[in-house]
Amino acid sequence: MMTLTVTGSINIDHVIRLPQFPRPGETLTGHDYRIVPGGKGANQAVAAARAGAATRLVACVGEDPMAGDLLAGFAADGININAIDTVPGVNTGVALIQVNDAGENTIALAAGANAALTPERLERHASALFCDQLLLQLEIPLETNLAAARLARAQGANVVLNPAPAQALPDELLTLVDVITPNETEAERLTGIAVNDDAGAAAAAQALHARGIATVIITLGARGVWLSEAGRGRRMPGFAVQAVDTTAAGDTFNGALVAALQQGLALEPAVRFAQAAAAISVTRPGAQTSVPYRADIEALLEQD
Ligand code: RIB
Repeated sequence: MMTLTVTGSINIDHVIRLPQFPRPGETLTGHDYRIVPGGKGANQAVAAARAGAATRLVACVGEDPMAGDLLAGFAADGININAIDTVPGVNTGVALIQVNDAGENTIALAAGANAALTPERLERHASALFCDQLLLQLEIPLETNLAAARLARAQGANVVLNPAPAQALPDELLTLVDVITPNETEAERLTGIAVNDDAGAAAAAQALHARGIATVIITLGARGVWLSEAGRGRRMPGFAVQAVDTTAAGDTFNGALVAALQQGLALEPAVRFAQAAAAISVTRPGAQTSVPYRADIEALLEQD
């Protein structure tokens, strides 16, 4: 069986909905406070598993009472949790999330146990990096992502990097990546090229190809996706939906994308599958609470 490993973060999301984001110095009363399982790594693993991929998550939680519930939730989704460590003396990662009436969000993070996923700890789970695909994001130490990409690439895995949250990256990491999936902001951060339109997306994709990445997929929100393979790009429009909460839409896209590749789909239908999954997620509140199952995704694709 083809295997997928996600190496990354686990967070407990504290979410408040507000009419609009407070300005500096302003206090605003919100509504619908919820505590939701989140973290980009965990969200992506859940999305991949619910889309049908045999998924393993390499990550860390703290000793707080909710950690056990999180692990039980992953196991219920069929995720292999053998490489999730419980780190003594720290809390699970936390995200404070504000969602406004337009469905947009702001996120403040405290890394907690995610900072304990060091290269040394990863080394103890090296066997988990023997996989067909490795999916990475940027909420754990950069050196750990580098170590994971080196190990997985050395034994022939397809390495997919979702470069979120936006940050500059070392050339070595980019040369170890087969597929990169930035949004507009992240693409600009990596290339210095503003992605405001198709021409900007094409130029940013070329800059990422020039840094050694064969496949560049730039997510453009409601405008869809810029898909560029070996220097040839095109825009794929998305699904028109009413956004309630865009939290974890990118994570859902990435998890569903690797699941579709895992099942042997060619790149373009795999992107379409991922777009459908992300479209469903924005119609639902929260992070993992919004991630669809394979049957939901196939139902939307059938209406297409
Ligand atoms: O991408 C959404 C995620 O970002 C949230 O679940 C939050 O935990 C932060 O990691």
